Amino acid sequence: MSLLRIFNETSENISSDFINHDDIQSELAKINIEFQRWDQLSMLTEETNLSDEQILNLYSKEIETIKHLYNFHSVDTINVTPEFSKTDKFEPMRKKFLDEHIHTDHEVRYFIDGQGLFYIHKENKVYGILCTAGDFITVPENTPHWFDMGSSPNFKCIRFFTDDSGWTPNYLEKPISSKFPLLDDFLKVPVS
Ligand SMILES: [Fe+2]
Repeated sequence: MSLLRIFNETSENISSDFINHDDIQSELAKINIEFQRWDQLSMLTEETNLSDEQILNLYSKEIETIKHLYNFHSVDTINVTPEFSKTDKFEPMRKKFLDEHIHTDHEVRYFIDGQGLFYIHKENKVYGILCTAGDFITVPENTPHWFDMGSSPNFKCIRFFTDDSGWTPNYLEKPISSKFPLLDDFLKVPVS
């Protein structure tokens, strides 16, 4: 289940929870975040064990639309499993996305499977967005944000790129990210 949790930027209190897709979409549209569900295709990939190439072919129409819209030149898939958390590469990779940052490109993800937590910092609020299978999200260029994959990461995403420099994190001087719950703790708070 996807969840949008809106926090007050300074008190760090939760002001609202949204679990209905249309509500999440309209709340995020107010801050220029595009949020969609590609439901039917998601069901197909859940039921079958497709290769990365087959997945990209399955979503080719949507991928071409997004590439054209945002001028992306390439796509790939990323697959992170709980086993990855036992490797030396896990903590550095998790940390790379945990501190508040911006990019010169849009950060665009489609969740084929699993889950991940995006935080968007905008207009004195912090938007925690738990993305699950079927969710498509765009974080516009120069929008402060961070991402947590959790202590036991499990997600498979399609990513879009212009070039490597476009999604290099540019970290903010006064990040607020450490004040907000990581994915594990975020999930422990009941939906209000
Ligand atoms: Fe990012």
